[in-house]
Amino acid sequence: MAMLGYHHPDYKRNTRGCNVHFPYYHSLKDVAKFEARPDDVAICGFPKSGTVWVCSVVGLILHDADPSFLLDGPPLERKVPFLEYCTPLLQKGYRGVDTLEQTTGRRLFFSHLNCDLLPPSLLTSGAKIIYKTRNPKDSLISLHYHHMARPASDYHWVLGQMVDDYSEDTVPFGPYFDHVASFWKHRENPNIFFTSYEALHKNHKKTVQDFAKFLNQPLSDEQIDTIVRLTTFAAMKENPVVNRIDKVAAGIFNFNVAPFMRKGIPGGYADDLTQPQIQKLDNWIALNKKREDLRGMTSLQD
Ligand code: A3P
Repeated sequence: MAMLGYHHPDYKRNTRGCNVHFPYYHSLKDVAKFEARPDDVAICGFPKSGTVWVCSVVGLILHDADPSFLLDGPPLERKVPFLEYCTPLLQKGYRGVDTLEQTTGRRLFFSHLNCDLLPPSLLTSGAKIIYKTRNPKDSLISLHYHHMARPASDYHWVLGQMVDDYSEDTVPFGPYFDHVASFWKHRENPNIFFTSYEALHKNHKKTVQDFAKFLNQPLSDEQIDTIVRLTTFAAMKENPVVNRIDKVAAGIFNFNVAPFMRKGIPGGYADDLTQPQIQKLDNWIALNKKREDLRGMTSLQD
């Protein structure tokens, strides 16, 4: 099986309305069978919407703000597995679901799948889901730089392609607004918490407090302050456990092209997108925000 880059015809396969891309479509059957536990915590949302940031905050909350969770030991993704991750090209392949099944303590993991592709037990077991959105104009710029910095993506560095992929609903893990709607339809479920990159950025401390409350994890003000201090952009950029420096050493990313902790602000898209590209995206956003199945979804940013 050859490596499939971003432009390969078999890179994405539309599965139950989601453009699941290589290698993740190989793990969908295993993910569907995955048994969630009542104390699981899943961080869900589109790629480049602040996944590592929210996983860092929530990991610290679940570890009583113990700094060693974020400062010591292996890279974060070994502590917070990627549910649908798999390596079908390797003979003895890795599967996120295997790691999670072998985990005996409380499990924290993340997923980029839309809600319809998640294990059904995640919604019924009492497990907690934090669903985060980010302004799609910012997450698409972040994804553009992510692929530029990752040689295996075989991405041709054309920003217009990413704008078209988002706004024409062919982006991996998209369509974007269907992804949001797949979770929003479960808004009555008390075990799903909706948040946004922008909320965490605007009100870091209050959002950490909200997460702790949702997770029934009482923390002192001092513990909350510790979490905030360890999860600022500046602190995380200097922290090798979260900033993916291991992947640079392994040749997976070239941080000279773009570091993982790249810009870390809402609205940064304005430096990269042309006015016609912004207009195209704004039209697509405005159209989708009128959707009946997104009514009341206030954390959508434009
Ligand atoms: P930018 O590329 O816009 O800088 P994900 O973890 O889903 O891949 O998201 C990566 C994005 O989250 C990157 O965005 C990264 O800089 C941003 N990010 C990570 N930690 C952050 C933090 N502590 N504060 C602000 N942004 C953060």
